[in-house]
Amino acid sequence: MVGWVVDLGDDSRSGAGYLAPVERFNQATRMTNRLILDTDGGVDDAQALMMLVAGGRAPDAITTTFGNVGRAQATRNILDTLSVLNHGIPVHEGASRPLVQPVIDAAAIHGADGLGGAPRPAAAAAPASADAVEFLRACLAEAAAQGQAVDILAIGPLTNIALVLRADPACAAGIGQLTIMGGTVNGRGNVTPAAEFNIYADPEAAEIVFSAGLDIVLVPWETCAAHFVDGPAVDDLFAGMDETDVSRFARALADHARRVTAGYGHGDIFRFVDPLAAAVVIDPAIATEMLPAAVSVALAPGLTRGMTVVDPSGRLGPKTVRVLIKADLSQVAGLFGRSLR
Ligand code: BDR
Ligand code: CA
Repeated sequence: MVGWVVDLGDDSRSGAGYLAPVERFNQATRMTNRLILDTDGGVDDAQALMMLVAGGRAPDAITTTFGNVGRAQATRNILDTLSVLNHGIPVHEGASRPLVQPVIDAAAIHGADGLGGAPRPAAAAAPASADAVEFLRACLAEAAAQGQAVDILAIGPLTNIALVLRADPACAAGIGQLTIMGGTVNGRGNVTPAAEFNIYADPEAAEIVFSAGLDIVLVPWETCAAHFVDGPAVDDLFAGMDETDVSRFARALADHARRVTAGYGHGDIFRFVDPLAAAVVIDPAIATEMLPAAVSVALAPGLTRGMTVVDPSGRLGPKTVRVLIKADLSQVAGLFGRSLR
C-alpha cells in the first residue's frame, strides 16, 4: 500500500476541517489496469503520449476528439506522433463536435496544425476505426462484464466519454481510474476568467462525466500553471543529445510551448499541462497533495459557463474526485526528460 498525505491547503487554514487527512490506495492494482488515452491532439497531448510510452505506461488504445484542433487533425497528430516514436497503438477517431454548443478550437495556442509545426514523418498511418465511442463502449462493457477495469487518461474535451456513459451507463463499472486534465480548482480559467479549455469546449459532456460517480483524479489548470521549469532547464535536457526524429520532434514541441507561454507574458518557462496528468498516471506517487471533492460544472450561459465548481464539503454529492494540488516537480521533469529521445 502506498500512502498519500492529503494536505488540506488553504481549506485547512480556513478551519473548514471537512477533509480526510490521509488517503490510501493500492498502487499495484492500479498499475495492472489497461489504459486508454483520450486526446485532442495538441502540442502537450503529443508530449503526454511520448511520456506515457517512455515511462512504461503506453496506452493500449487511443481515442481522439475535437478540441485543440478539429477531429481529423487531432487524429492525424496522434498517428504522426506514434510514427515518430515508431510505436504502434490503435487509434480510434471520436467526436467531431460538442453535445450542445458550437465547436471551438485552440489553434491560436497549438498552431494551425495543432503541433506547432513540428517535423512530421513522411508516411501517414491510418486510424483503427472511425468510431471511438463504440470502441470505448464495447471495451468498457466487456471489462465490466469480466469484473475488470480500464483506466482512462482524458486530456481533451470529455465528449467521447460522455457519449459512452449516455449510451450505456453500465459502462461506468468498466472504468477504473479516470484521470482528467481540465477544469479549475480556484475558478481561474485559461479560456475565460472562470473556465479551462477542455471543460469549456463541452461543458455538458463534462457534467455528465463528473456526475457519474467515477473514481476521478482531476488535474486542474491552476495546478498545471504552477508546475513549470525555466526554459534553460529544458535546453539542458536536450544538451548533448544525439539528433534523432524523436529528439527533433520533441524539441520543436517544447520550443513552441515556450514561445506561446512567453508570448502571453509569462517569461521563458515550460509548463507541464497534459504531461502533468500523464506523469500522475505513470507514477501516482508523484502526486503529493490531493483534495477530495465533489465536482460539478456550471452550465448556465454567461460569465461562469464551463467553470468547475469544486466542493470539498461534499454538499454537491459524494467526494469521488481527487483534485491534484501539488506534484513532485523534479520527478515530473525527470519523466519528461526521458521522453525526449
Ligand atoms: C488543455 O487544453 C489544451 O489546450 C491542452 O492540450 C490542455 O489539454 C489546457 O487547458
Ligand atoms: Ca489536450
